[in-house]
Amino acid sequence: MRKRTALVAFAATLTLLAQPAQALPQEAPLAQASLAAATPGIGHDYEPLRDAAARSGKTFGFAYAPHIANSDAKYKAIAQREFSMVTAENNMKWDATEPRRGQFTFNGADEIMSFAAANNQKVYGHALVWHAQMPAWAKSITNRDDMRKAMNDHIKGVAGRYKGKIEAWDVVNEAFEWDGSRRPSELQKVMGNSWIEEAFRTARAADPNAKLCYNDYSTDGINSKSTAVYNMVKDFKARGVPIDCVGFQTHLIVGQLPASNKQNLQRFADLGVDVRITELDIRIQLPASQQALQTHATEYGQVVKNCWEISRCTGVTIWGISDKYSWIPQVSPGWNAALPWNDNYSTKPALASVANAMGAKKNGSSTGLVCGISAKVGANWSTGYTTDIVIANKGTTPIDGWTLQTTLPDGQKLATGWSGQFTQNGQRLSVSNTSFNKTIKPGESVSFNFNTTKNGNSSTALRNFTVNGQQCT
Ligand code: XIL
Repeated sequence: MRKRTALVAFAATLTLLAQPAQALPQEAPLAQASLAAATPGIGHDYEPLRDAAARSGKTFGFAYAPHIANSDAKYKAIAQREFSMVTAENNMKWDATEPRRGQFTFNGADEIMSFAAANNQKVYGHALVWHAQMPAWAKSITNRDDMRKAMNDHIKGVAGRYKGKIEAWDVVNEAFEWDGSRRPSELQKVMGNSWIEEAFRTARAADPNAKLCYNDYSTDGINSKSTAVYNMVKDFKARGVPIDCVGFQTHLIVGQLPASNKQNLQRFADLGVDVRITELDIRIQLPASQQALQTHATEYGQVVKNCWEISRCTGVTIWGISDKYSWIPQVSPGWNAALPWNDNYSTKPALASVANAMGAKKNGSSTGLVCGISAKVGANWSTGYTTDIVIANKGTTPIDGWTLQTTLPDGQKLATGWSGQFTQNGQRLSVSNTSFNKTIKPGESVSFNFNTTKNGNSSTALRNFTVNGQQCT
């Protein structure tokens, strides 16, 4: 419903209004536009980041916990809007999928598969074999062949169930130590060095279409650990052990992004495998200082840029959405602020930094502004014309204070206006609210009008409308 504000005529307009109208008021709209709705509550005004990533041939992913989506609508809305890839934060791990030997439980994993399918997202499988979140029954096996059977049966059970539907699997997670030696896990102790390649061969047979990855943390720069992984990948490639990709978790402490991050990713890519940032978060000691948040933003942007500059880097996955549900406070008490979204879904500088590194376009408003404009010529005579403009609030939140801008045809000047505060700068006309039409409630509109001198240019076509800086044409 449009609600017309009563016109307030000023004496200064009388000269223009006194001139005889040369044409009857026209009803042809000069501009009629409504903006695509910016999803309310996402905390920023960029296009969906998945769209920006897609233009570079990459995916933007997140660690997904279905129980949160079921209880938190904002989490769900962001999960659907921003991401083109989903990693199960926990539901595809060994303890979740095979809590008792030979008894597979796929409820959570299935829920993730259907969420991803419904939202046109790829699924990154995480993780088939890992010493953590490995069920007690498996950890307690001491016989080598029995452990191999348990591991291979697990891989066949899980990778087999989702055969053809998983983009890539973390076949093995976190098998190395800081110094580059093998982690002395039950897997390593019972099976010896060959267990990693055996896991990869079993996974390839179970799902020949999934890319098979090795994933680890603190391998983000060139160091003893990443070099040990590098040497393993090189050896696998040389011997024909099936490996397609390496995941770099990138759980960082603010200020500690290794300078060699890009060089490290590149050296793996040069071995002929894909690389990916698989679990990005950057923790800050609480309370987070402004300076820490700036470094945090710079490092988030740098990680994305490093990946974007490497053709074999398939994209970036962040380990959650909002700090509210991050795993960081559990493992690192007193630290968090690790993700781009705060507890209340406002965004940190890191969000803009990520968006800009991806080349994301702005397309909405952080206030959820959704506007529609109609502009009509109300009277048209030889030396001037009157324009009536209506701004409609087509969104769900009140617009509390507005400034409309438009460009007048060359040489034309504002003569006077009503129901707004008018200023002209070059051909750009700005009209801000008065005290009596400041708020536009959802579904309502305000109107104002003004006279313009023609100065020899008879066009009445106004161009480039914005409301509060947002494009409305
Ligand atoms: C974490 C989850 O985020 C937590 O919810 C869970 O309690 C423990 O695991 N490296 C990995 C991830 O590969 O699976 C871990 O996820 C974080 C570290």
